[in-house]
Amino acid sequence: LEPPVVVVPKRVVEEEVDDGKKKVTVFFGTQTGTAEGFAKALVEEAKARYEKAVFKVIDLDDYAADDEEYEEKLKKESLAFFFLATYGDGEPTDNAARFYKWFTEGEEKGEWLTKLQYGVFGLGNRQYEHFNKIAKVVDDGLTEQGAKRLVPVGLGDDDQCIEDDFTAWKELVWPELDQLLRDEDDTTVATPYTAAVSEYRVVFHDKPDMFAEDQSMTNGHAVHDAQHPCRSNVAVKKELHTPESDRSCTHLEFDISNTGLTYETGDHVGVYCENLSEVVDEAERLVGLPPDTYFSVHTDNEDGTPLSGASLPPPFPPCTLRKALACYADVLSSPKKSALLALAAHATDPSEADRLKFLASPAGKDEYSQWIVASHRSLLEVMEAFPSAKPPLGVFFASVAPRLQPRYYSISSSPKMAPNRIHVTCALVYEKTPAGRVHKGVCSTWMKNAVPMTENQDCSWAPVYVRTSNFRLPSDPTVPVIMIGPGTGLAPFRGFLQERLALKEAGTELGSSVLFFGCRNRKVDFIYENEFNNFVESGALSELIVAFSREGPTKEYVQHKMSEKASDIWNLLSEGAYLYVCGDAKGMAKDVHRTLHTIVQEQGSLDSSKAELYVKDLQMSGRYLRDVW
Ligand code: 2AM
Repeated sequence: LEPPVVVVPKRVVEEEVDDGKKKVTVFFGTQTGTAEGFAKALVEEAKARYEKAVFKVIDLDDYAADDEEYEEKLKKESLAFFFLATYGDGEPTDNAARFYKWFTEGEEKGEWLTKLQYGVFGLGNRQYEHFNKIAKVVDDGLTEQGAKRLVPVGLGDDDQCIEDDFTAWKELVWPELDQLLRDEDDTTVATPYTAAVSEYRVVFHDKPDMFAEDQSMTNGHAVHDAQHPCRSNVAVKKELHTPESDRSCTHLEFDISNTGLTYETGDHVGVYCENLSEVVDEAERLVGLPPDTYFSVHTDNEDGTPLSGASLPPPFPPCTLRKALACYADVLSSPKKSALLALAAHATDPSEADRLKFLASPAGKDEYSQWIVASHRSLLEVMEAFPSAKPPLGVFFASVAPRLQPRYYSISSSPKMAPNRIHVTCALVYEKTPAGRVHKGVCSTWMKNAVPMTENQDCSWAPVYVRTSNFRLPSDPTVPVIMIGPGTGLAPFRGFLQERLALKEAGTELGSSVLFFGCRNRKVDFIYENEFNNFVESGALSELIVAFSREGPTKEYVQHKMSEKASDIWNLLSEGAYLYVCGDAKGMAKDVHRTLHTIVQEQGSLDSSKAELYVKDLQMSGRYLRDVW
């Protein structure tokens, strides 16, 4: 009898589990599902390469219930990857917020992670100031806390092609994992992995399962979050621009009475809206199945075992194809390369399949950038161009059309004034793409067309939920505030001023406040003009300063008005004022930031680096807050 073969691990690995298999944990901090998708894709590919390792994909929020548990569990990890998206003003995603706060704040942790080897891939957008901040901070933090970095932090850039960045980063990961996860007696050569097209199991039903449909619409959840939004009726709708305007901005009020939904001044509302019916018509035609096809999607086999090899988004409730295309499919964004491959796999015309594969290949990179990304070609336009590509429903909803995401708006009311209503101020997205299509923003168009309760009892409604923000008035109302919000950046300040007005009416003493607003022309897009004048008259707002960009011969922007008021701003800051900026991140918020720096430098007679420190300090102490997009 042969003695049993003792496999001696390459390295001494104390935390080996599952019969000597090395454990790899892949964490994700995701907002729209891309980071989660990448985490799962890495694991799928790694599983095919390293049969002797055990992989786990974990939502950072689900990993630990509290700080101690984070510490206790992370200490035991020996090999981990982190997929971390950065959004807004350099913030972590909701599901990574608790981890990020614990990991980066509080007392010095020392070198406690010496057992851990790791890699970080970030998801961000280079157009924004804090490009991939969360990934960079966690990557540095892990090294500082004693862990060993296996690969440089991946800086995924959504402005270009983030899938390519991920592919390039993975190429750095494999040689490292080859070292760590292959046994010395393992002589097999790593075979290149080609991602399989993932696909739901689809069940067609003869008649609607009313119970399941009803379940998706009830408001019975104790807590409303992204997974459990709450059905809310549109109570009021108003156009805020005057008829002279060639644009549109909608004021909408969601009725939240008797829903259990609550909010605070400065929070965001996430709105799940539907595709326009003309868009759904087009999608139905391209998918090529009857709109009343009633079906359900499943991530398991009939016997309940999970589908093998697939990383699938969570299924949606059983419904008709028409409803699924209206509510669950993003068909107006440009398709990802993986979607092109899924289409290629189901194209009956070989030349179409070849062209789709080429567009998704490294050789087709430039053409993909030009023909798809730069020309903002939508999934529908691409499907129109490849008429033989008709994927089955399980493929279409899993791999071709991403899930339609909620849109977030800064709430423009205060619960002190409107406890039963969530107000939204939403500019219409309506633009001609380079390829000649008129792009109508999904949610802004839905809001513009919504039927309010004031017009019809059978009014429009949407699933919504409240996302907490840190954009809050100072807890001490006597502290002065400076607010900067051009365009719809005005929204949260309407909430702030409603709150201050309510406080004032209740007899509370208020510190001074100044608001910089910017629009094109007083007669056209000075939204809520009367309300803001009333805030000044009632003393909720000390000063309203408006920059009109298209009235005079030269452009006047909020930052120009700030420069004119430099000494006032400096005096207020010296008194401890909070400064808030809301609106466009790519242009306005950057310019305002620069102007603030100049004001601090000149008024405080500081050199540039001291001024920078001053502004940093404002940020760190929570007195310079931004709600930007
Ligand atoms: P414009 O459209 O005339 O350029 C709200 O959108 C207001 O913000 C408009 O008056 C717009 O002016 C202005 N705006 C555009 N770019 C800006 C920037 N970089 N900084 C500040 N305001 C800007």
